[in-house]
Amino acid sequence: MAKKKITVIGAGHVGATTAQLIAYKKLGHVYIVDVLEGLPQGKALDLMESAPLEDFDSRVVGLNSYEETANSDVVVMTAGLARKPGMTREDLRDKNAVIVKSCCEQIIKYSPNCFMIVVTNPLDTMTWVAKKYTGLDKHRILGMAGVLDSTRFRSFISMELGVSNEDVHATVLGLHGEDMVPMPRFSSVADIPITELLSKEKIDELVERTKHGGAEVVKLLKTGSAYYAPASSVVNMVESIILEKNRIIPAAAYLEGEYGIHGMFMGVPVRLNWSGIADIIELPLTDEENAALQKSANAVRESMANLSV
Ligand code: APR
Repeated sequence: MAKKKITVIGAGHVGATTAQLIAYKKLGHVYIVDVLEGLPQGKALDLMESAPLEDFDSRVVGLNSYEETANSDVVVMTAGLARKPGMTREDLRDKNAVIVKSCCEQIIKYSPNCFMIVVTNPLDTMTWVAKKYTGLDKHRILGMAGVLDSTRFRSFISMELGVSNEDVHATVLGLHGEDMVPMPRFSSVADIPITELLSKEKIDELVERTKHGGAEVVKLLKTGSAYYAPASSVVNMVESIILEKNRIIPAAAYLEGEYGIHGMFMGVPVRLNWSGIADIIELPLTDEENAALQKSANAVRESMANLSV
């Protein structure tokens, strides 16, 4: 079978780590695009020089323009500014909207049938901007955040209980920000709900840590935001699409009435395969969970209303 073609826009921390994982997992040829001259070419060459040791034979190409990205199967959008300490994701909105718009107008000319996964923050709003400027069908465009927020929740549960990550499942719904909605009722260890294993106080503590998981890393790094877990999360999604895995994972999907939400992207469980978002799964929510989700939706609506593009 011919190798898939995956374009990563943005050769910064998240983009370069994503490209590395895609190459090492042998998911396809990788094209990295950035506005900075030399950066994507240098990272691509460095990655190619690791190929004999990492045993991959796909191409890794660095570019400052889009012609060579033509007919990409999957596009990962990471271009844009990252947070510094004290900033919220929302503070990035106006500058990143302009960047995402310009990248989308270019990429879609050459890859009109791609799947696009957006990583640039504020995530749910930027995925809406990307849908607007690519015109992609709602099944072919989604945002990466739920996988990241859930992997953070999973890692905190596993650290707390001293159990293998393999046995821990966790679900986080809603926007990618402090109003996200971690779901203890749908989180478990070896099929045992965490509500049976941890006290309410401890669960509340882990939920709060999950909501501020990105900020905790930003505060430590001081010069930028997280990239190992974000890159692993996006590659998990790329894998599910390319390998037709039908994974059920939380992702920012375009909602048209699901969960009572219309015309915007929000983190919900989806089934991912070679048709992109094959299904959106509607979990039965308690009144309290639903209220938290609607609060999340209102925050995204407000962000979209303030958009300058
Ligand atoms: N086209 C292509 N690349 C661009 C453009 C553009 N118009 N504008 C900026 N870039 C590139 C920058 O040159 C830089 O190399 O985007 C890259 C961003 O890299 P970093 O600053 O290292 O940021 P990173 O940590 O990768 O985060 C990127 O993902 O998780 C989100 O909040 C994060 O919005 C941020 C994005």
